[in-house]
Amino acid sequence: MSIYAHITGWGIAVPEKKLTNNDLMQMVETSDEWIVSRTGIHERRIAGANESTATLASKAALQALSNAGLSPVEVDLIIVASSTPEYIFPATACLVQDHIGATNAGAFDLSAACTGFIYALSMAASQIRTGAIKSALVIGSETLSRFVNWEDRETCILFGDGAGAFVLQASEAPGGVLTSALHSDGSGAKSLMLPAGGSRQPTTMETVRQGMHYIQMNGREIFRFATRVMAKATEKVVDQAGLKIEDVNLIIPHQANQRIIEAAARGLKLPTERFMVNLDHYGNTSTASIPLATYEAVEQGRLQPGDYIVLVGFGAGLTWGALLAQWSGPLSKTQRRVRHFGTLNRARALFRQVTRRIEGMIWGREEKEKPKSRK
Ligand SMILES: CC(C)(COP(=O)(O)OP(=O)(O)OC[C@H]1O[C@@H](n2cnc3c(N)ncnc32)[C@H](O)[C@@H]1OP(=O)(O)O)[C@@H](O)C(=O)NCCC(=O)NCCS
Repeated sequence: MSIYAHITGWGIAVPEKKLTNNDLMQMVETSDEWIVSRTGIHERRIAGANESTATLASKAALQALSNAGLSPVEVDLIIVASSTPEYIFPATACLVQDHIGATNAGAFDLSAACTGFIYALSMAASQIRTGAIKSALVIGSETLSRFVNWEDRETCILFGDGAGAFVLQASEAPGGVLTSALHSDGSGAKSLMLPAGGSRQPTTMETVRQGMHYIQMNGREIFRFATRVMAKATEKVVDQAGLKIEDVNLIIPHQANQRIIEAAARGLKLPTERFMVNLDHYGNTSTASIPLATYEAVEQGRLQPGDYIVLVGFGAGLTWGALLAQWSGPLSKTQRRVRHFGTLNRARALFRQVTRRIEGMIWGREEKEKPKSRK
């Protein structure tokens, strides 16, 4: 008996604040015409003061759970793929777990830059297909605006904030995530990186002064790399699944640049209509871009149960990869509104924090009362 990992829920969260190309023209020397002709981007979303990678991720997760009709306590695993996690540690996934009340879930973050959502989906699907777990939340969430140098016109025009989530569930019915191909080439690490703040270059006055906590990118190099790998990775998963490219109903690529997507379409000899594109209004949201585009494809009626889709992406690392899935829709036909007990979850978190404090006081006293070891 085979177990399949079906995509049964999808949700998104985007900040309200929009930053248009005209707004950017007030900040750096650029023009709407330049940005649109080089990237296809018209506007992007920027997180507000009360929004963060974890809050956006939690919101997207709850919507995905609602669509799947699954309660947070039924989730076995949460993976958050992010290039801009809440902290170096703890994992953003743990914060999401606490916030949504997924009290039975394991949780960890996955770092594979803009390819992170494909990596995370592949990992979660493998867990389901081995029978180790029955359900998973896979989330891509970013607040890139907090790592962008708003004086660097080559990067600040590209990126935006947002989150997207999928629910994966086990079923014996064939379908869901069928195959994936994950790749990396660390020799290209310097082409796109955030140099300081890690163990290699801890934060100092000097790293801050030099702007080393901002995204640094060699745009042309990334462009060439992306146009090389997108079509190849797509062909690989189509081949692995024993299908032909014509069998694929929709390709959902990482939303980095309209010209990169057009180059992939040319490489695959497919019309661009077979690609889902929404980067014009969100920009490059890194790990969130593929679930954001998938959500919109569903909203536009471009995905029907049984359709074959390819998700394909690339990013820092360098990383790249693709994943082929058969679209399922919710397993249970009755969508159920998942209630989010925000206050209850906060009360539970507070209770646990107080319990830990009391335990600390008790254990601390016992430690003090222990007889000193004889010399
Ligand atoms: C960044 C990118 C849009 C630049 O487009 P491009 O066509 O390669 O442009 P070039 O690098 O050739 O630059 C052309 C000129 O425009 C200038 N320029 C750069 N950014 C500009 C901006 N926002 N507005 C106006 N001019 C700009 C450059 O300084 C350069 O000027 P020069 O010829 O006098 O040196 C493109 O390289 C790209 O999209 N790369 C991939 C980036 C990416 O996807 N990163 C994320 C990966 S997940």
